[in-house]
Amino acid sequence: MGSGDEEIDERLKNIEPRMIETIENEILTTTQNVGWDDIAGLKQAKKAVQMAVIYPLLKPELFQGIRAPPKGLLLFGPPGTGKTLIGRCIASQAGATFFNISASSLTSKWIGEGEKMVRALFAVARVRQPTVIFIDEIDSLLTQRTDGEQEATRRIKTEFLVQLDGCGTSTDDRIILLGATNRPHELDEAARRRFPKRLYVPLPDRDGRQTIVRNLLRKQTHDLSEGQLELICDQTDGYSGADMDSLCREAAYGPIRSIADISTASVDDVRPISYDDFAYALRQVRPSVSSKDLEIHIEFNRTYGMSSADA
Ligand SMILES: Nc1ncnc2c1ncn2[C@@H]1O[C@H](COP(=O)(O)OP(=O)(O)OP(=O)(O)O)[C@@H](O)[C@H]1O
Ligand SMILES: [Mg+2]
Repeated sequence: MGSGDEEIDERLKNIEPRMIETIENEILTTTQNVGWDDIAGLKQAKKAVQMAVIYPLLKPELFQGIRAPPKGLLLFGPPGTGKTLIGRCIASQAGATFFNISASSLTSKWIGEGEKMVRALFAVARVRQPTVIFIDEIDSLLTQRTDGEQEATRRIKTEFLVQLDGCGTSTDDRIILLGATNRPHELDEAARRRFPKRLYVPLPDRDGRQTIVRNLLRKQTHDLSEGQLELICDQTDGYSGADMDSLCREAAYGPIRSIADISTASVDDVRPISYDDFAYALRQVRPSVSSKDLEIHIEFNRTYGMSSADA
């Protein structure tokens, strides 16, 4: 049904051409180069994403009838755990048209036009099937409605829910909604309902942290022993993937900082990164996710998450 060529499709007849152009330029993603191996740890989450999104797109004939994939998948978890990274990975691996919308740009960038843009967006998505619509930071769009909310925002939100419903009801459509949020508890019932599968993206475990450190150190000279690497992993319980990234970057600065005169230094003057650099960095970079925040995600997962048996 959906064709990628440029003839005017019935479904785009009432959509302003300049909006279609904006969508094609700003939202359609083509060049993403993230592979599954770039995402450290998160074995279960990766497997679940493959089952719910990737395979149904690659092999639709296997996922018919009651095996039809869920229309909406929500990735939730603390900040810096790889949700956006997973979205980008899906973009490069799914072989589908990929729409990347940051929810905040819908409400800020297209002031006064947000509602029409949402309609245009879903129309283009239908024409270009199979499509993945990735709405990052979806909480800023679909949080519980408050009285003080601006009329324009409210209308965008309503249109969004209507369009999401449309995606959910037509069984022939091959459109998958992917949402990501670090504030899942702020989504209301209506929003939750549009994402029947909800997948917890947790903090990295010890192995995950080790993979991140190893990957980042691979292109640097360092003199860390295996034992010291293990020690770093022991000392970073509670760090997110993004925290691990900051930690390694901070440590990598150590050798530069210890050069007396950087202006005359050459690459050969830079000593290898050492465990002491990490010990220093560990004092500078603290875990960014509080235990209270973590508890919110664990609780949400317990109440609304998909069990690992689904994965
Ligand atoms: N599992 C991971 N493997 C490798 N790198 C990771 C992982 N998790 C996080 N990172 C690093 O942290 C950065 C931030 O990750 P990302 O943007 O995906 O977080 P997020 O879950 O979307 O956070 P937020 O909720 O704040 O949007 C990544 O660019 C990457 O460098
Ligand atoms: Mg993100």
